[in-house]
Amino acid sequence: MFKINENYLKLPGSYLFSNIAKKVAAFTEANPDRDIIRLGIGDVTLPLKPAVIDALHGAVDEMGRAESFKGYAPDLGYAFLREAIAKNDFQARGCQIAADEIFVSDGAKSDSGNIGEIFGVDNKIAVCDPVYPVYVDTNVMAGRTGLYNPETERFAGVIYMPCLESNGFAPEIPSETPDIIYLCFPNNPTGATITKDQLQEWVDYANKVGAVIIYDAAYEAYISEESVAHSIYECEGARTCAIEMRSFSKNAGFTGLRLGYTVIPKDLKCGDVTVHSLWARRHGTKFNGAPYIVQRAGEAIYSEAGKKQTKESVAYYMENAKMIREGLAAQGYSVSGGVNAPYIWLKTPDQMTSWEFFDFLLEKAGVVGTPGSGFGPSGEGYFRLTAFGTHENSKAALERIAMM
Ligand SMILES: Cc1ncc(COP(=O)(O)O)c(C=O)c1O
Repeated sequence: MFKINENYLKLPGSYLFSNIAKKVAAFTEANPDRDIIRLGIGDVTLPLKPAVIDALHGAVDEMGRAESFKGYAPDLGYAFLREAIAKNDFQARGCQIAADEIFVSDGAKSDSGNIGEIFGVDNKIAVCDPVYPVYVDTNVMAGRTGLYNPETERFAGVIYMPCLESNGFAPEIPSETPDIIYLCFPNNPTGATITKDQLQEWVDYANKVGAVIIYDAAYEAYISEESVAHSIYECEGARTCAIEMRSFSKNAGFTGLRLGYTVIPKDLKCGDVTVHSLWARRHGTKFNGAPYIVQRAGEAIYSEAGKKQTKESVAYYMENAKMIREGLAAQGYSVSGGVNAPYIWLKTPDQMTSWEFFDFLLEKAGVVGTPGSGFGPSGEGYFRLTAFGTHENSKAALERIAMM
């Protein structure tokens, strides 16, 4: 008789977005005339930019001609894209990252979920609380945690680093020593970030204790403050302790196209073994490359036109972020985020729980957001709004919230 991976049974079920969808559907059915503004899910809304569309068209035409047709892509990515990434995202910022240290993939969700495969099951992980759920759930699936405790809403064997108002939503170095540390800045869901100096402390700590940092920089394009590092490799010593993940989803609107990458410096080693060689082996065995046309589209965002157009989309969303953040603050809400990230993290008023505020906002304003408690117990009493809507919707949502 076959056996299943029983670690999957430890997962309590991902109710967050399905619960939201159910509640919204019930509300719409009961109130067919009410117009709903959705500022819940972290998906982009602007269409792809002309530079990307042109590159896609060009690549599709190449695929239709015998002389330029492409079959399987190289497992680790086409050189044209890896070189453009190394040059623009790293070398231009003074980071010594070479093209062959970049692994092109179909996005940061799969990379951040799959990376655990190359690490032993007995490593202890540390995560922020609240957190992007992929990091914890994939470690549960791998058997790297104990059971879930519904009372504490935590898995045994995981080091949780609370990110609260009192610490500026920045994790503190834990008292128990982890082997693998997941960091994500700018952060989903809190929209918070840490300074380059603070990040340097994490790099120094990881090097000291022999831990690896898995650094998710999916929202890098939203950084507006000088003091914030765009890459962990801006920190001294990061080449020996950090893996960085990036995505084309939030900067260039590739959520439906799918493209991302992971950087593993060759200096990151466990004894004599480079982590780079393990991920190359894993990629070569389990991944057949991101589509040629999508890699060409990715390359296009590094052209002059592509850079300009990408900046315009980011600026559009960040205008929403500013409007929502300042508008809510003017209404007396306690808000954070929205400066280096497209997420606004607000404290629920009158001691409401995150879900109570969700219902209240839907009922009174017809606005949908995401309850902070869905990202971990330290998110209770908080609520996430995204800046990925239109200006009109963001403005209308604010006006409706003011009338509640
Ligand atoms: C922190 C974080 N990492 C990764 C992702 C997923 O990125 P991708 O679309 O490249 O899979 C998201 C998406 O919401 C995210 O919030």
